[in-house]
Amino acid sequence: MVHHSFASGLCLSLGLISTFASGAPLEANEPDFNSGVDYVIVGAGPAGLTLAEELTRQSRARVVLLEAGASGDTNPSVQTPGIFFQATYQYNWPYFSAPDPNLGGIAPNLVQGRMVGGGTGVNAMLYSRGSASVFDEWARVSGNRGLAWNSIYEAFKATTHWTDEPSIHYKQPINTSAFGKGPLEISRQRELFPIDTPFVSTFADKFKLPEIDLVSGGGIGVSQAVESIIARNRIRSYAHNSFGYQAAGRSNYRLITNAWVAKINFRGAAADSVTYNDTTTGTMRTLRAKEIIIAAGALKAPQLLLLSGVGPADALRALGIPVVKDVAGVGQGLIDHHMAIMEFEAAPGEPSGWQYDYNATFRAQATAAYARDGSGWLGTQGGDPYVGARLPGSVSPSSAYLRNLPQDRAHVAWGYSNQAMLVDNNQGVPNVSTVSGYAALVQPESRGSVTLASADYRAAPIIRSNYWGTPAERAAIIWAYKQLRSVFQSRDMARLAPRELFPGANVTSDADLWSAIQKSSSSWHHPVGTTALGTVLDANWRVKGLKGLRVVGSSAAPQIPTCPIQAAVYALAYVAAADIKRADRI
Ligand SMILES: Cc1cc2nc3c(=O)[nH]c(=O)nc-3n(C[C@H](O)[C@H](O)[C@H](O)COP(=O)(O)OP(=O)(O)OC[C@H]3O[C@@H](n4cnc5c(N)ncnc54)[C@H](O)[C@@H]3O)c2cc1C
Ligand SMILES: *[C@@H]1O[C@H](CO)[C@@H](O)[C@H](O)[C@H]1NC(C)=O
Ligand SMILES: *[C@@H]1O[C@H](CO)[C@@H](O)[C@H](O)[C@H]1NC(C)=O
Ligand SMILES: *[C@@H]1O[C@H](CO)[C@@H](O)[C@H](O)[C@H]1NC(C)=O
Ligand SMILES: *[C@@H]1O[C@H](CO)[C@@H](O)[C@H](O)[C@H]1NC(C)=O
Ligand SMILES: *[C@@H]1O[C@H](CO)[C@@H](O)[C@H](O)[C@H]1NC(C)=O
Repeated sequence: MVHHSFASGLCLSLGLISTFASGAPLEANEPDFNSGVDYVIVGAGPAGLTLAEELTRQSRARVVLLEAGASGDTNPSVQTPGIFFQATYQYNWPYFSAPDPNLGGIAPNLVQGRMVGGGTGVNAMLYSRGSASVFDEWARVSGNRGLAWNSIYEAFKATTHWTDEPSIHYKQPINTSAFGKGPLEISRQRELFPIDTPFVSTFADKFKLPEIDLVSGGGIGVSQAVESIIARNRIRSYAHNSFGYQAAGRSNYRLITNAWVAKINFRGAAADSVTYNDTTTGTMRTLRAKEIIIAAGALKAPQLLLLSGVGPADALRALGIPVVKDVAGVGQGLIDHHMAIMEFEAAPGEPSGWQYDYNATFRAQATAAYARDGSGWLGTQGGDPYVGARLPGSVSPSSAYLRNLPQDRAHVAWGYSNQAMLVDNNQGVPNVSTVSGYAALVQPESRGSVTLASADYRAAPIIRSNYWGTPAERAAIIWAYKQLRSVFQSRDMARLAPRELFPGANVTSDADLWSAIQKSSSSWHHPVGTTALGTVLDANWRVKGLKGLRVVGSSAAPQIPTCPIQAAVYALAYVAAADIKRADRI
C-alpha cells in the first residue's frame, strides 16, 4: 500500500483509514485518498495554504488540508477593506488573554482568524516585512540558513506581486523590485485620507525619521504602508483567493472545511493520523498520513500538540493526557505585539467608521463609489500609516535586551485608524465620530505562554500574554504614549482630530497615563513563538524527537518581526515547503 517512501527512510505502511469523505465522488483517474495520504496539513491560514499550494505542485503527493472554519470567500465583509472588522467578528476563535496582573486584571481580546485564509481573511491587510536582522536571527536560532534575510527575501518576492494604479496622485517610495510573480497581490491605497500625510510627516519631523517602504529590509522610519488588496477592484487579496485558488483545481489536493482537528495520533514516536470532528455532521473521522504538518497558528498549534501528548510532561499528566513526548517548550515563548490606544473626536467631514455607521449620506456615497470601481472609503482599510522608531537612550536604560537589540530594529511603532478601537471596553468614550491612535511595543522582551485549561479540544486555551511585563517596557510605553499625544496635539493633526476623548486632557501624570495604558491595552493580533524553531522544532520544521510531525507558521517563528507579520508568515511557509520537498522527495 505504500506508494512512495520518504528519503529519510521513514516508511509507514498505510493500512485502511477508518473513514474519509471528500464530499464529491472520486473520478476514475483521480488518485486514491482513501488509503491514507502523503500530507495532512492542519489549518488553512497563510502557512497552511502556502504549503498546500507548493506541496501539490508535486503531482505524486496527495495532500489534504483540514480547516476548522468555513470558506467565507464570497462574503462582502471578507472582501471589502473598509469593513474588515466585521469579518474579524464573524470568523474567529473568540479568545482573550487570561486576566493580566500587569493590566490590573484586564483580559484583552486576542481573537484569531477561523476560516479558509485564517488570519489573512479577517486581518487589516497591512503588508510589511520590517527589519532584516529579525530574519537573520531566525536563521541563527534555527540553523536554517534559508531564513536569513538575504535568502528569505527571495521567498518574500516569490509569494507576492506588485500592482499599481494609474490614478495614484501621491508620492511614496516603493521598491517594486522587492516583489515577484507570486499569487498574493500587493498594492497601495488609492486615495489618501486627510490624516495620512500629517500623521507620518509630524512623526518624521519630530524624530528625524526617513520615509521607508517596509518591504526592503528597513524597519525604522515612516511609511504609508502597502496592503494585500487587489488594485483593480479593491477586494482583499489573501491566502484563500491567491494560494488557495491556485491549488484548488489539482486532483492530488483536497481542502476540507468545518474539519476541527481534535488530536494527532502516534504509533510510538511517529505521528500517523489525525482525528477531526466533521462539524457539519458531527462525525469524528480519522485520516492517516505519512506526514502531518500543523499550521494552526500561534495559539492553536501549541494547544493541539498539548492535547496530543506533546509538551511539558507534568502539565500533561495533571490533565490526564498520556505523554507521547516531554517537550518543555511547547506553548512557552509567546511573543505578541501589543498596543495602547488613544481616542480623538474627528473633525466634521473627516471620513470614519462612525460616519459610515451613522451618516446615511456618507454611507450612500461610500457604497456607490465602491460598487462603481472599488473607490472611496470602503476600498481602504482605515489607516495605513506606520511609524517605527528606536527608543531614545534615556528611556528604558535598565533593559540590556532593549538596549542591545540590533541597530536596524524599531522598538516602538505608532499608527492610527479611523475606527474607534476601544470597542470591548469603551471607557466612557462618547458616541461621536472617532479616530484612534496607537503606540505599540514591537520587540518586547517579555514572553507569555499558551497552556491547556482542559483536555477537551473544544475548550479555549489559557493565554498569558504578559504585556508590558518589565519596568523597562512600562517606561517605554509611557514614553511612546506621550509622543503619540504630542503628535495629535501638533497644529496639522489638531485640525483633523481636535478633541482627545481618551484618556482625556486631565490625564497627565505618569501614574495616570500608566493607568490609561492598562485600560486601553490591546493585542495587535500578531502572536508568534509558541512552537519555536530552535527550541521545539529542528531546522527542518520537525518536532524534535518525533517522526512524521512538523509545525509551520506563526507559531514556529522564534522572534517577532518589527511590524505586522503576515508577509513573514507567507515567506516562512514558502521556505518550509521547499525544505520539506527537498527532505521528503515524494
Ligand atoms: C484581527 C487581526 C488583524 C491582523 N492584522 C494584520 C495586518 O494588518 N497585517 C499583518 O501583516 N498581519 C495581521 N494580522 C496577523 C496575521 O493575519 C497572522 O499573523 C497570520 O494570519 C498567521 O498565519 P498562520 O497561518 O500562522 O495562522 P492563522 O492565520 O491563524 O491560521 C491558522 C488556521 O488554522 C485553523 N485551525 C486552528 N486550529 C485548528 C484545528 N484544531 N483544526 C483545524 N483547523 C484549525 C484556524 O481556524 C485558522 O484558519 C492580523 C491578525 C488578526 C487576527
Ligand atoms: C530594492 O530592492 C533591491 C533588490 O530587489 C535592493 O537591492 C535595493 O537595495 C532595494 N532598494 C531600496 C531603496 O531599498
Ligand atoms: C462534533 O461537533 C459537533 C458540532 O459542533 C458537536 O455537536 C459534537 O459534540 C462534536 N463531537 C465531539 C465528539 O466532539
Ligand atoms: C455626512 O456625510 C456628508 C457626506 O460625506 C458630509 O458632507 C456631512 O458633513 C456628514 N455629516 C456629519 C454630521 O458629519
Ligand atoms: C450613536 O449616535 C448615532 C447618531 O446620533 C445614533 O444613531 C446611534 O444610535 C448612537 N449609538 C449608540 C450606541 O448610542
Ligand atoms: C479626568 O476627568 C474625568 C471626567 O471628568 C474623570 O472621570 C477622571 O477621573 C479624571 N481623571 C484624572 C486623572 O483626573
